Amino acid sequence: MKSVLRGIGSYVPDKILDNHELSLRVDTSDEWIRTRTGIIERRIAAPEQSTSELARIAAQKAINSAKIKPEQIDLVIVATITPDMAFPSTACILQHQLGLGKVACFDLEAACSGFLYSLDVADGMLASGRYKCALVIGAEKMSSILDWEDRKTCVLFGDGAGAAIVMTDGEGPHLMGFRSGADGSNPSLLHQPAGGSKMPASISSVENREHFLKMNGKEIFKSAVRVMEKATRELLEANGLRTKQVDHVIPHQANFRIVESMAQRLEIPIEKFFCNLELHGNTSAASIPIAFDEACQKGIFRKGEMGVLVAFGAGLTWSATLVRF
Ligand code: ACO
Repeated sequence: MKSVLRGIGSYVPDKILDNHELSLRVDTSDEWIRTRTGIIERRIAAPEQSTSELARIAAQKAINSAKIKPEQIDLVIVATITPDMAFPSTACILQHQLGLGKVACFDLEAACSGFLYSLDVADGMLASGRYKCALVIGAEKMSSILDWEDRKTCVLFGDGAGAAIVMTDGEGPHLMGFRSGADGSNPSLLHQPAGGSKMPASISSVENREHFLKMNGKEIFKSAVRVMEKATRELLEANGLRTKQVDHVIPHQANFRIVESMAQRLEIPIEKFFCNLELHGNTSAASIPIAFDEACQKGIFRKGEMGVLVAFGAGLTWSATLVRF
């Protein structure tokens, strides 16, 4: 039994923050950001728009595209590192906002790999036979955890949400296989130090800017290329496929140079990689579903083609999904 992506939808906020505008805030330039990352602009949510609000709009679009009734949904998973609040889960908040039934709801935290981890989990729960219709969402308001005085991180990220309806029958891309993993040996490579039980909020945690995202960009870059290549190879091997049989790759939209390096190592032509990071930056867990939705709208997939969705994120986590369109 294979899960089917019955519908997909995405949403990004209206406000565009381009590199030029950013260069007025921090010591950076359009040229530096473009050449080092490929990013030109990103979307920033309004102050009153929380992650659940971004998720709600994307979810509504996915429900419409799947042509299902909201009451059919019996499982909601929201992948996010920027939940509305520590608890209750953003998935519970969203359930009420969407007027869904009193169904199972939880958040999944695997940073930028979160959406693909969630597809992996949803597929298993659907395969158990106890659930029939999952709403799987990646949603982030990254702007709420960025240090807008740190040029090494604030130029990289954006806000947005993407959602999918996953069922075990019907028409749509089939989810053929999954490969998820993690290496928790060095969590401080990419983390938000304060606000949890290890460093609860205090005057000094705020003064020391510990509630913002901190990252060792160089190390993350190297790990990202390595783990996305490994996850893709293992996924293909487990499903009896070679890299040359892959028609499309939707990689995590973090940095075009990461995508280029991965393409070279996998010996998959760069033309097969779908990228929209120039317009959105890195939207963390929302990056893959936003890219997937945009690629669908552009009509780039043909029935029967094979695709790989692959992501990495804080943890470090990684996840890859094989799709037959
Ligand atoms: N504007 C101008 N100069 C800058 C900027 C900026 N925005 N940021 C850094 N610099 C400077 C640095 O200070 C450094 O100057 P120095 O040599 O005088 O010290 C110089 O540029 C080079 O900095 P590097 O860090 O070596 O630049 P690099 O080429 O490695 O690019 C980048 C940095 C873009 C962050 C890259 O390492 C990267 O993309 N890493 C991966 C990050 C990533 O994908 N994170 C998301 C993970 S997913 C998740 O879970 C959220």
